Amino acid sequence: MAPPVRRQPDRDRFGAREAPAQIVAGRALVAGRLQPVEIALGSEGEILSLRRTQPPGPRHDVGESVIVPAATDLHVHLREPGRPDAGESMATGTVSAALGGVGLVAEMPNTEPPVTSVERLEEKEARVRGRAAVDVLLYALAGRGSARALALRAGGFKIYLSPSAPVDEVPSAEELPRWLEELARTDLPVAVHAEEPSHFRGVAPPKDPIDWGRARPPSAEAAAIERLARRPDRLRLHVAHVTTRAAVSRLRALGASFEVTPHHLLLSDRSGPDARFKVNPPLRPEAERAALWTAFAAGEVPALASDHAPHTLSAKSAEFARAPSGMPGVETMLPLLLERVRRGDLSLGTLLSAACDRPARWLGQPVGRLAPGHRGNFLVIDFRRRETLSADRLSSACGWTAFEGWDAIRPVEHWRDGVRIVADGEYVGRPEGRVVRPEFAPGAVSPPIRPL
Ligand code: NCD
Ligand code: ZN
Repeated sequence: MAPPVRRQPDRDRFGAREAPAQIVAGRALVAGRLQPVEIALGSEGEILSLRRTQPPGPRHDVGESVIVPAATDLHVHLREPGRPDAGESMATGTVSAALGGVGLVAEMPNTEPPVTSVERLEEKEARVRGRAAVDVLLYALAGRGSARALALRAGGFKIYLSPSAPVDEVPSAEELPRWLEELARTDLPVAVHAEEPSHFRGVAPPKDPIDWGRARPPSAEAAAIERLARRPDRLRLHVAHVTTRAAVSRLRALGASFEVTPHHLLLSDRSGPDARFKVNPPLRPEAERAALWTAFAAGEVPALASDHAPHTLSAKSAEFARAPSGMPGVETMLPLLLERVRRGDLSLGTLLSAACDRPARWLGQPVGRLAPGHRGNFLVIDFRRRETLSADRLSSACGWTAFEGWDAIRPVEHWRDGVRIVADGEYVGRPEGRVVRPEFAPGAVSPPIRPL
């Protein structure tokens, strides 16, 4: 694994300016305003500088189109190994990410078997190499095994507070503080699925997303967050897929990191009656959805993440009560939200903070900003090229989307280390994605990142 490149920016101040290998010209958000920029890229695809005009060199001019950093998705399930029934793989899911403008996915450990040992991490790493279109960070599953051993290899940890196939190991009230202590000592990010199962109610049998929301009510989310409230100071706590305004306020007060998903922002429990709309945590009533959107648009949510959880249509066409939970999303997350920016419902800056900058900082990665020393991982967005989402034009192998027919703005180009992997909306890359781990200064005890 080649170490990421970090270069001294502004070399010209010392009279030794590196000639750019190439220049990409367009518009970008600089100091809160869209303005013309020219981005100089070095020989390894790193960003050397952003200026109004660069010295002469090979140029790629995207005109009025907007250059934004590639996104980092903190929550993606790629289903390898052992879950081919879910209709996705490391290869197909990362091409789907590339087309959706996501340059780094953090991959969840609820595979079959779950990622509970160094050997299983190594096996997953081997599935990334030579097959992944974008970079992949691998979560290990927190549990009764040694977090210290896993931390030598993992990119982060995931804790499920309620069982989630195939994970049935959830911490008891006595165990959780000990798990959190041990995880805090690893300094790795820790993502938590925060639903407290003692709040689940028997709705027999749930027949639609409204029932599902009653079976797993918001109080389960609130109770799970309270279980995390007295966490060790050093723990890098991140709460996955928050669904309510109350949880947003509570987590902000606690100073914890958290994410919301596009489906909880855009869909309610009445958006569709069938199991394609069955997801954990459930979709909420319209008023709750609208309140979550308001918080997101106000910049109160640190991260946007897809919880890309593909299941095939045939699995989803089972009786509602027995159908699996989860929907695909890594390819549609940014396009759906960029359309909201185009409509004026959301500022581009708010979106880029939540989708690109903060998640990359959270994982200690030199991406997510158009800044000297960062990798040249960025997208070209043409806000005039609106499209209608349709499953047959999406690349995810699961073959459907809950956002069929929605307007969206897909990236025209996606650059990775200064090389285009998406051109004219088509994937043209090679499977050169790397396994990445958080890069905090070696040996340093990094303080918890407060991403708010
Ligand atoms: C996820 C899945 O299918 O792996 N499903 C979901 O509804 N979000 C599991 C999970 O993240 O809980
Ligand atoms: Zn998930």
